[in-house]
Amino acid sequence: MCGIIGILGTHEVSPQIHDALKRLEYRGYDSAGIATLNKGRLDIRRAVGKLINLSDILVHDPLPGRSGIGHTRWATHGEPTVANAHPHRAGRVAVVHNGIIENFRALREQLEAQGAEFTSQTDTETIVQLASHYLDEGMTPTQAARHTLEQLEGAFALAFLFEGEEDLMICARRGSPLCIGHGAGEMYLGSDAIALAELTDRVTYLEEGDWAVLSRSGAMIFDAEDKQTNRPVTRITLEAARIDKSGHKHFMAKEIAEQPSILQSAMAQYVGNTPDGLNLPETLDFKQTDRLILVACGTAFYACQVAKYWFEKLAGLPVEIDIASEFRYRDPVLGPANMALFVSQSGETADTLAALRHARRHVGQVVSVVNVTTSSIARESDVALPIHAGPEIGVASTKAFTAQLQVLALLALRAGWQRGVLSAEGCKARLAELRLIPGFVAQALDREGEIRNLAETLSQARDVLFLGRGTMFPLAMEGALKLKEISYIHAEAYAAGELKHGPIALVDKELPVIVFAPSDALFEKTVSNMQEVMARHGKVILISDLAGLTQAGDVPYRVQMPAIPEFIAPFIYAIPAQLIAYHTALHRGTDVDQPRNLAKSVTVE
Ligand code: G6P
Repeated sequence: MCGIIGILGTHEVSPQIHDALKRLEYRGYDSAGIATLNKGRLDIRRAVGKLINLSDILVHDPLPGRSGIGHTRWATHGEPTVANAHPHRAGRVAVVHNGIIENFRALREQLEAQGAEFTSQTDTETIVQLASHYLDEGMTPTQAARHTLEQLEGAFALAFLFEGEEDLMICARRGSPLCIGHGAGEMYLGSDAIALAELTDRVTYLEEGDWAVLSRSGAMIFDAEDKQTNRPVTRITLEAARIDKSGHKHFMAKEIAEQPSILQSAMAQYVGNTPDGLNLPETLDFKQTDRLILVACGTAFYACQVAKYWFEKLAGLPVEIDIASEFRYRDPVLGPANMALFVSQSGETADTLAALRHARRHVGQVVSVVNVTTSSIARESDVALPIHAGPEIGVASTKAFTAQLQVLALLALRAGWQRGVLSAEGCKARLAELRLIPGFVAQALDREGEIRNLAETLSQARDVLFLGRGTMFPLAMEGALKLKEISYIHAEAYAAGELKHGPIALVDKELPVIVFAPSDALFEKTVSNMQEVMARHGKVILISDLAGLTQAGDVPYRVQMPAIPEFIAPFIYAIPAQLIAYHTALHRGTDVDQPRNLAKSVTVE
């Protein structure tokens, strides 16, 4: 987490740094800060909370200077206070940092024993104190930075700015992403290309272990062995820079609304004139695969849970599924005939990346499904499949979920075809169903008014239960996660059949129970579980199609979805799951796009 930006500019840099921080705020918003060299002297402004608080300070107390670094924080070590906000400074050095310095306690003790006085509780301060110590010993800034980096353990990306060094910035990448931007007589660095998108379209991605010395005329890059190296300059599309709410009140609302068009255009990238109708890399080999291992975090994990049903049913492929933070610590039994598939919107989630690196050493193929195609996870996979969802800014993932589902569904079809479980016709018939999704999703979005009304009731609840069977079970989990994330209401999801094994004890007349139940083969069983709730006066909210709602009879609350083929139900039922959370959060007046304590890209383990 945390976003970093650095600019060696030809004009005042603090407005540009501030704008870049706006684009990086999705990585954390516990505090923000900027340091510049003002007539060669380090000058710093920091504020707790969202960037807007820093903006207010800058209005009254601007920050001159043509060289500067900025930071937006998601707190790990030390609570969100001004003292713990970045940039941190000691002597003639300032640093912004993303990640964790694991050996900071030992370093801090050592530095304190030598007389260093710490002013924060952060791990980051050990970096500046170390660098300052080396400068005091007579080292040049570059030597001091290099010696400091040698001492650090953990995963991080960071940037140093040195007093009196107007044309120098030093940055390093170990574990967390960092890229360098090339401008006309200016140089930039940022946590990602989105940060740099309005500054330049020419970007160099640093590789693992790289560090770089920047001046306005270019960058000298060194690899993990300190050997000077060249990294390619790539052109990024300005698409990445187009981050606005397009008239919506929140990014989340915009991202929910744009799902029909995104799913349609993403699908167009994946259909082709092939026997199975799919345009997927030929290197993907499901035929020789004896087991598929799906790994992800958060919403992406629930997308994997849906996909498990598809891979098993459509391709007869045994699937194992893991939360990324658990995967490598349970000594999974892996082998060369396994395919490991990692799903991540950002492509930078530390746990997912670590799981990928672990799997790489053992499995035959490493595949990823990502939104950010330049991300570490994409670059470290044998095959990286983009979901083509465009930048997702709302912290609670919405469009990335359905776009992930789409790519996973296509992969399940390809697997079914390669493994001889699906015929060419069978595959194409499923593909035709997938192509109906944008239209049905649009119809589901039309029910927003009903959901808005319902959300008023939900916003009074202390707890909410979500139920579903089959692929509706992960959907229920996604619905509960969304509600927790942005409305702060406690929500839990259960496989509907599991209700009677415990959670039914929670049911009383205050408890809303949301049931996802399209009229499919499992409908009657789900409805029986729903009746068990109603018999105990739980406030049931049934989400089903007309046939289901009719068959279910008298239910306190209902939301009608279109009648759809069973295969594509998760896409359509994702819409009420998202809208319920969104409108409940609106009623409660929470910060929908930037909910408390969360960050979009979780780059610490
Ligand atoms: C964070 C976000 C979630 C997201 C999860 C995984 O927790 O708040 O919305 O689902 O990370 O992120 P990824 O980028 O790997 O999909």
